[in-house]
Amino acid sequence: MLKVGVVGATGYAGEEVIKILVRHKGVKITELSAVIDKEEPISSIFPAFKGLLDLMCYKPDPEKMSGNVDIVFLALPHKVSMNVAPVFLKAKKSVIDLSADYRLDQDVYKIWYGIEHKDKGNIASAVYGLPELYHDRIKDAKLIANPGCYPTGAILGIAPMLSAKAIDKGSIIIDSKSGVTGAGRKPDLALSFSEVNENLKAYKVNEHQHKPEINKILSQVAGENIDVIFTPHLIPMNRGILSTIYMKLNKPLDTKGVIDMYRKFYSGRPFVRIYDEGKLPQIRDVVFSNYCDIGLKVTGNTLIAVACIDNLKKGAAGQAVQNMNIMAGLDETEGLI
Ligand SMILES: NC(=O)c1ccc[n+]([C@@H]2O[C@H](COP(=O)([O-])OP(=O)(O)OC[C@H]3O[C@@H](n4cnc5c(N)ncnc54)[C@H](OP(=O)(O)O)[C@@H]3O)[C@@H](O)[C@H]2O)c1
Repeated sequence: MLKVGVVGATGYAGEEVIKILVRHKGVKITELSAVIDKEEPISSIFPAFKGLLDLMCYKPDPEKMSGNVDIVFLALPHKVSMNVAPVFLKAKKSVIDLSADYRLDQDVYKIWYGIEHKDKGNIASAVYGLPELYHDRIKDAKLIANPGCYPTGAILGIAPMLSAKAIDKGSIIIDSKSGVTGAGRKPDLALSFSEVNENLKAYKVNEHQHKPEINKILSQVAGENIDVIFTPHLIPMNRGILSTIYMKLNKPLDTKGVIDMYRKFYSGRPFVRIYDEGKLPQIRDVVFSNYCDIGLKVTGNTLIAVACIDNLKKGAAGQAVQNMNIMAGLDETEGLI
């Protein structure tokens, strides 16, 4: 039985990782930690775990924790993970980092996150944890850079077309709408109920920190530089991201032909579902699940792809567990269906 730890256990993503792992057949949770005032059982912090998991949640002590885990999930804010991951890696433990700290090259990281990276030595060995594109590399990875929530749906909605060189590479526009848990649990006036409720707003228009991550991975898929237009929006919902993606076709294709291309591209990938012609996914189809659902429509020479995920599952904790399953040689879907 794999011994697993969660650092940042009291955040939204950490809580979600624990929720999946308590029902997972191949692992035992042995260590939990978070920045907390008082060390107490996780079932006192989250009563939903009463009778399921009464393990103590300690203040962070990565050296001590690394002695009692085989693999650790870091559900920490960016700029924090890069101080913690090297401790586990040095102790020869596998790390799945849910933050952005290992997703970008060091120069790009400095531009978008505003500080010098503190663990440059481990960036090159990090594997981007999007199993639908990097399954074979994830199998042998010791450090996973788990993808961001917006990039997961956006990349999955675009990759088949770039891989087939079937769109104009300069034409990609991503319009994404996210529920409020996407911003984490920490207090923030802009995220308070009366600011968000009955409202819809765009933010960080084409300057969100997930844009360079989307560009990096799509450029790898395309084999050439990709620069998307990306506008995120905040909607008054707890969970879920719906991305509407516009792409100009560079060859004549109809909706049925595009659906066939996407189904072929994701054949054998258990968590991507391509809808039939005339059907489009909604957030309620994927919420609390690890699926990314994609609907497609061609109109004139424009392809519109609608991709939906749950930000805390396929966009964070579910995908992290999917990566753990692949790394550990377990069934990729264990604990997730
Ligand atoms: N939310 C999402 O939908 C989503 C999706 C994809 C990726 N992610 C990424 O996952 C990570 C966690 O996100 P989240 O939404 O769970 O955030 P969150 O709710 O704010 O939780 C962050 C966790 O980290 C702990 N923490 C904060 N500063 C720390 C420090 N210096 N040392 C140790 N622990 C510290 C927090 O403890 P306290 O609360 O006690 O300070 C909390 O347990 C972030 O990097 C985020 O970008 C989130």
